[in-house]
Amino acid sequence: MPNGLTGYRRTARLFHWGVALLVLLMIPAGLVMTTKGLDRTVQDTLFLFHKNVGVLLFFLVLGRLIYRLRHAPPPLPASLPAWQRRAADLSHKGLYALLLLMPVFGYVRVRAGRFPIEALDAFGIGTLLPKSDMLANTAKALHYAGALALIALLGLHIAAALQHALIRRDGVWSRMWPPLGTGREG
Ligand code: HEM
Repeated sequence: MPNGLTGYRRTARLFHWGVALLVLLMIPAGLVMTTKGLDRTVQDTLFLFHKNVGVLLFFLVLGRLIYRLRHAPPPLPASLPAWQRRAADLSHKGLYALLLLMPVFGYVRVRAGRFPIEALDAFGIGTLLPKSDMLANTAKALHYAGALALIALLGLHIAAALQHALIRRDGVWSRMWPPLGTGREG
């Protein structure tokens, strides 16, 4: 067991729950802001939130990934079957990939369409892309497909976590909960 840890370290937990909170706000914001007939002020506010928090999320997930690569996760309980370890590993890699790709697709969709990203504009970080309807539309389609994949994978991730927390009670849930835990409890 690395350094006697039974759960994730506090930094890993804060990254996890911080990213989880933002993603769970980003998805409904994205779905609502693209619905037809929405009040213009509400739509503009949601777009402002979605674009700027989405950029922040990209750097947060990148930081989280770098932290994860430098700090080995705590071991899973020995009772967990091999196929579940493999499924967990694959789904976690899929989540990291989608959480890095979604902001990139969103960025390309917005910048190739010559729309503002207010926080980057305020820092004088101009657009890194040429104006291109084809690029913007491709990124829009990829962002949409990525959103569907992310929603499906998150559904699976949350269902598995709840199953460990409420039914199996095998210690998997307490590796990441509570958010301020140190990983040395138990
Ligand atoms: C993890 C980060 C992100 C998630 C989970 C996410 C999720 C979503 C979802 C669920 C939608 C609605 C489905 C759709 O129409 O595609 C959406 C739409 C959209 N997102 Fe994101 N998004 C993220 C990051 C970003 C970023 C960083 C930007 C821009 C800087 C962005 C720009 C947009 C735009 C412009 C739309 C509307 C697409 C259109 O109809 O033109 N998103 N997003």
